Amino acid sequence: MRIAIASDHAAVELRQELAEQLRAAGHEVADLGAELGVRVDYPDYAEQVASRIVDGQADRGVLVCGTGIGMSIAANKIPGIRAALVHDVTTAALAAAHNNANILCLGGRVLGPVTLAECVTAWLTTPFEARHQHRLDKVTALERNNASERGK
Ligand code: RB5
Repeated sequence: MRIAIASDHAAVELRQELAEQLRAAGHEVADLGAELGVRVDYPDYAEQVASRIVDGQADRGVLVCGTGIGMSIAANKIPGIRAALVHDVTTAALAAAHNNANILCLGGRVLGPVTLAECVTAWLTTPFEARHQHRLDKVTALERNNASERGK
């Protein structure tokens, strides 16, 4: 799978470790930063990863900040993105099975490296359950309707 990954300054080493693990598992990984020791703004990195997905350059994305909250808020502003903030293997698997999340958001200051890796694996290996598609269609309709409202 083609996976784009990024973090802000709160989780650089955790993200680098995760990127290596994903490569070792056979994925094609685009690590988009940030660099160690530089304070950055999470929306810039959420946008980079989300753009790769909506442009078709990546299949999935992983975003890590201190809590995962900022990354999930920012990524979900981009049409076509379903970013899920998860804290454990159960929510990670359900983000795939029920929500077909195309970005997983994680908190590097609230989760350890083992839990982070287990969450990503659970999300990548759990299939989407098609019985939930009509709900995702409604989410897409919300996105579309609100975009046209703004355009008025
Ligand atoms: C950065 O200090 C911190 O606010 C960020 O990593 C993240 O936790 C925001 O949601």
